[in-house]
Amino acid sequence: MELIVELREVYKEIEGREILRNISFAVPKGKIFSIIGGSGSGKTSITKLMVGLWKPTKGKVFLFGEDISSLSLQGLDSLRRRIGYVFQEGALFDSLKVWENVGFYFLEHSDMKAHEIKELALEKLRLVNLDESVLELMPSELSGGMKKRVAIARAMATQPDLIIYDEPTSGLDPITSRVIDSLVLELNRKTGITAVVVTHDMISAFSISDRVILIRSGEIVVEGTPQEVLSSDNPFVQEFVGGMKDCLSGKGA
Ligand SMILES: Nc1ncnc2c1ncn2[C@@H]1O[C@H](COP(=O)(O)OP(=O)(O)OP(=O)(O)O)[C@@H](O)[C@H]1O
Ligand SMILES: [Mg+2]
Repeated sequence: MELIVELREVYKEIEGREILRNISFAVPKGKIFSIIGGSGSGKTSITKLMVGLWKPTKGKVFLFGEDISSLSLQGLDSLRRRIGYVFQEGALFDSLKVWENVGFYFLEHSDMKAHEIKELALEKLRLVNLDESVLELMPSELSGGMKKRVAIARAMATQPDLIIYDEPTSGLDPITSRVIDSLVLELNRKTGITAVVVTHDMISAFSISDRVILIRSGEIVVEGTPQEVLSSDNPFVQEFVGGMKDCLSGKGA
């Protein structure tokens, strides 16, 4: 099975503090893989290691099958270009229209004409179930859920092989959160794109993921399919997912 990301016994120390310990997992091509954990548990840090923004203190990181410690900056850069990011802060450029946000990469890095970029932006917006009516809007004119969609469309614009969502449902109401979950699933099914989803939203993680890891204080507590994690008898898992089992159907159910 082709692996898109793999961490092998990764440790990370910052300012004398070990923030990640013995992290190992693999993300197979085409799957949705979620990293769940409370605030400060180390989720975003794992994504920084995954994409080579941070170097592990110990252990190995493989991205698209390549050991990233063996790559030049250029080599790493070309792998990074195959990744789309939906950042934790959502971060659309407030002074740019929706189409300019979605087409940002092409505005900066190509000779494409404005109308071509607009066309491409529209194609990506359709992927997230938006239409031409939003093209000329400013981010301030969008609802929270629409902003997330536009951020996802922007991440998809370069046809990445991997998309990383950091807290895609944070700050959204429960109904809009479920809509974004469906969208993450739909994109995975329609395009086959591999997804890593960072979240503390248990409902979200268990309903969309093929596999999940649960992180606590920089360590993996449990790893497996949503069903496997839900049925784990680890006390922390029970505490973390407690009371949720009944309201979950789970992707693999
Ligand atoms: N640049 C940094 N310098 C020092 N410590 C850091 C840095 N980035 C993260 N940390 C620490 O590492 C730990 C994990 O942080 P991280 O941002 O990965 O958590 P998280 O699970 O993404 O949390 P949240 O759900 O709040 O986003 C925290 O204790 C944090 O204070
Ligand atoms: Mg985070």
